[in-house]
Amino acid sequence: MTTIYYTASSLDGFIADPDNSLDWLLSRDIDPEGLMSFGGFRAEVGAGAVGATTYQWVLDQEGDQWDASLPTWVFTHRDLAPQDGVTFTTDDVRRVHAAMTGAAAGKNIWLMGGGDLVGQFADAGLLDEVWVQYAPVVLGGGAPLLPRRLELSLEELGRNREFLCARYTVSPPG
Ligand SMILES: NC(=O)c1ccc[n+]([C@@H]2O[C@H](COP(=O)([O-])OP(=O)(O)OC[C@H]3O[C@@H](n4cnc5c(N)ncnc54)[C@H](OP(=O)(O)O)[C@@H]3O)[C@@H](O)[C@H]2O)c1
Repeated sequence: MTTIYYTASSLDGFIADPDNSLDWLLSRDIDPEGLMSFGGFRAEVGAGAVGATTYQWVLDQEGDQWDASLPTWVFTHRDLAPQDGVTFTTDDVRRVHAAMTGAAAGKNIWLMGGGDLVGQFADAGLLDEVWVQYAPVVLGGGAPLLPRRLELSLEELGRNREFLCARYTVSPPG
């Protein structure tokens, strides 16, 4: 079981532009069967965690339907409508991670973002890998990829059409 931050980023390290838009990302060419594609990644995932802003953005795209096949913990203080498979939480990331590990039943855990939520898992030593698909654009500002100082080790690197794809492991502190 591996805890993975899987996301796409601008070259200058933003996962959304200052208007919380992903227009700069969604228009791009990617091979859905290619390197680090979503389908292959998703098949090995058994549980997910996401911040409220990202969750709301996905619901807006998907007609207010969450993927109920993925047990998901949504970190929020908001009063959000119930969804199958979704647990709303303000709990400590360690306790949530333990619950996710049980739900994942040996499969991987996907930290969907945003960056600070993933940073909270990293602070607790619970982030194993970072997979980033870099789009050929600089945004100059927006939501940061991972606003922490962490040492990483580059394990895999390649191209999927317009994207530079990189897989890193998180190095132990010290
Ligand atoms: N490029 C990509 O592939 C990609 C991937 C993911 C996200 N995104 C985009 O990036 C942006 C991310 O925005 P973001 O980083 O500001 O937001 P985010 O992490 O999605 O959401 C932030 C919110 O999460 C809640 N939260 C975080 N930690 C919490 C905790 N410990 N306990 C309880 N609630 C907690 C808070 O919600 P409350 O306000 O309810 O307290 C906070 O305002 C979004 O626009 C998203 O669509 C892009």
